[in-house]
Amino acid sequence: MKLKTIELTKKFGSKTAVNTLNITLTNGVYGLLGANGAGKTTFMRLLCNIQDPTSGTILLNGKNIVRLGEKYRNLLGYLPQHFGYYPDFSAFDFLLYVSALKGLDEKLARKRSHELLEAVDLSRDSRRKIKTFSGGMKQRLGIAQAMLNDPHILILDEPTAGLDPKERVRFRNLISAFSKDRIVILSTHIVSDVEFIAEKIMMMKSGQIIHFGNPQEITSEIDGKVWECTVPTGMAEKYAASCNTSNLRNTGENQTVLRIIADRPPVEHAIKVQPTLEDLYLFYFKGDREI
Ligand SMILES: Nc1ncnc2c1ncn2[C@@H]1O[C@H](COP(=O)(O)OP(=O)(O)OP(=O)(O)O)[C@@H](O)[C@H]1O
Ligand SMILES: [Mg+2]
Repeated sequence: MKLKTIELTKKFGSKTAVNTLNITLTNGVYGLLGANGAGKTTFMRLLCNIQDPTSGTILLNGKNIVRLGEKYRNLLGYLPQHFGYYPDFSAFDFLLYVSALKGLDEKLARKRSHELLEAVDLSRDSRRKIKTFSGGMKQRLGIAQAMLNDPHILILDEPTAGLDPKERVRFRNLISAFSKDRIVILSTHIVSDVEFIAEKIMMMKSGQIIHFGNPQEITSEIDGKVWECTVPTGMAEKYAASCNTSNLRNTGENQTVLRIIADRPPVEHAIKVQPTLEDLYLFYFKGDREI
């Protein structure tokens, strides 16, 4: 599988949500990381051919996805960011319903629905009405419906929103097992969600992919530039305001540990530390909201 975008652009009036994206995705798990309004949902909707680009093209194995039409849709699984559930359906009936929409044969639909309910840990709740589900349960059902047709391209818009830590681990395992020989793209603004699941990170800002690569590759930009230093809590705000601070935590005893990104040690006793994806993210998106 090779999904390629050429000069992909989407404008809403004067706002450019996706800006001349040129990117090639082969099999693997991709984490699409960006602040609110960066363009993640728009990019995913373009990839799903739900939204028409203002200009540019998307090719699957060299063929325009618009021309592939239904053939392309049959290969796709999609979890929208705001997913509409049917409150009076049971989880199982809902999956059967989505299967019918996707044109799956009924016997296969039943089998897949059972398997996926098991995979997202909803087997015991499969006959309950969706309106009685918690947010995390609905989210897991949303992930299951996206996988019904055993898609070769799976696009999940903020799939981990509302999942608790245990469910996050389960989700990660599900995706790892599923992703062999497929393209999986998941968006989030929670760095730790993609750091361990995704092989490749696409960092998106103002409609462009500003970083692309595995976490080590993309953090190399700030190698040797991340410092940890302990300062009196009373001084922490001052440092945080004047330096590029990626993180701060109180250690009690009126001391605060700051992570600062700078070319030189920000204070004398600063210690050079290994950069993380979170450092890079906060470096780019600190206080960022692009809406
Ligand atoms: N239908 C639309 N009409 C007008 N503007 C839109 C529309 N959809 C998105 N936008 C704008 O395009 C930009 C990108 O929005 P998008 O929803 O793709 O961002 P996002 O990265 O998914 O954000 P979030 O993390 O909040 O989900 C934003 O400025 C948004 O306001
Ligand atoms: Mg979004």
